[in-house]
Amino acid sequence: MSVIFLKIQMKISIFGLGYVGVVTSAILARNNQVVGVDVNPVKVDLINKGNSPIIETDVDKLIKDGVENNNLKATTDSKEAILDSDLSVVCVGTPSNQDGSHNLNYLDKVLSEISDLIKEKDSYHLVVIRSTSPPGTTEEMIEKYFKNLNVGICFNPEFLREGSAVKDYINPPYIVIACNDDKSIELMKEFYKEVDSELLITSFKEAEILKIVSNVFHALKIVFGNEIGRFCESYGIDGRNVMDLICKDKKLNISEKYLKPGFAYGGSCLPKDLKSFLYLTKQKDVCLPLIGNISLSNEAQINAAINKIQSHNKKSVSFLGLSFKPGTDDLRESPYVRLVEHFIGKGYSVKIYDPNVSLAKLMGANKEYLEREIPHISQLLYEDMDDVMDSEILVINHNFDIKSNIQDKKYLVDLS
Ligand SMILES: NC(=O)c1ccc[n+]([C@@H]2O[C@H](COP(=O)([O-])OP(=O)(O)OC[C@H]3O[C@@H](n4cnc5c(N)ncnc54)[C@H](O)[C@@H]3O)[C@@H](O)[C@H]2O)c1
Repeated sequence: MSVIFLKIQMKISIFGLGYVGVVTSAILARNNQVVGVDVNPVKVDLINKGNSPIIETDVDKLIKDGVENNNLKATTDSKEAILDSDLSVVCVGTPSNQDGSHNLNYLDKVLSEISDLIKEKDSYHLVVIRSTSPPGTTEEMIEKYFKNLNVGICFNPEFLREGSAVKDYINPPYIVIACNDDKSIELMKEFYKEVDSELLITSFKEAEILKIVSNVFHALKIVFGNEIGRFCESYGIDGRNVMDLICKDKKLNISEKYLKPGFAYGGSCLPKDLKSFLYLTKQKDVCLPLIGNISLSNEAQINAAINKIQSHNKKSVSFLGLSFKPGTDDLRESPYVRLVEHFIGKGYSVKIYDPNVSLAKLMGANKEYLEREIPHISQLLYEDMDDVMDSEILVINHNFDIKSNIQDKKYLVDLS
């Protein structure tokens, strides 16, 4: 194993010698002066004797080498650590509270301590927070402890997995940083100069949300894979083979497709096949709560849009786009039809513009569907976008360029 990065010699203190802190200390000690800090003297003692307090591939040797080379030591004394370092990495635990929220007591305490000690220093100090925390935490901590101090604060989420932590640390999917000043951005770029991963700069909240969402996504994937496994098993099929095929499709399945927030799904295939899947699970008596609740979430998306539109307290609304997605005239199970029907029912004055659907109406494609299933909606379709721009609320269902048509003081609801 070679550790090829972080060649700049820095004096670094690492707070919290758990899984993240020990791996971080071990790796950084290859090329830097590292002092690990923990409230637990047993962990501190173990490290100072050249032993790892955690079981993790490749870490034992790195710790042993670090201590032997005098690059790594540990202490329970935060003061010694802060005064003798330029950069502090915070990796204290943020476990769950009874109510499910993150317990931020360790993070709060350690940052308060670091802030008090930094006040004793003249030189610039960079604090890099790697503990997972809810959106808004870092900004709150800055406000509480670091205002008007000569300090850089960076939130830099950690993506390592236990069991392959060293490899993951050295080769992350990307490096994400959110910083409170330009100097800390430059220092972080220098810090990660040798890592062959893209460095992305975001806001604090985005970086905090990203870390939590990544773990939620992993949990979602595991549960989805397991539910497909149970479904396949009920047919005597090995779900791993089916999921191998699902994963082979990098165009639609394992790709960016269908993963961006937008509006509810609809159309002639997804609702139909999901319904049929759930029918089969009932027949086979297989309980799949995740997949069983997909349509509930889809309904919630429609309801959220309804609430957004209603919140403007106006009575005339135009919808730009009616088919279930852009580029088609297919109205079957279009969630936008549901939206439109809701507002007709509520007595709103409704106008609709969708060039594909208007054309279909004229040309005969989908004509029968329009006349048979939704004749009330058919009356509200306009062929010219300008004719629908006078409503108080404009709801953008598909990604139309409406800038040139828009009048002042319109209420816009963008669902595209
Ligand atoms: N474990 C992982 O795989 C992993 C991966 C990515 C991110 N994270 C996140 O990183 C953070 C740390 O995770 P972990 O698994 O290493 O935690 P951990 O519970 O294993 O270790 C936390 C350490 O912090 C120490 N500590 C608490 N208060 C302290 C203080 N005031 N000063 C110094 N040390 C203090 C504790 O004694 C403990 O040794 C968490 O927010 C976690 O969600 C964990």
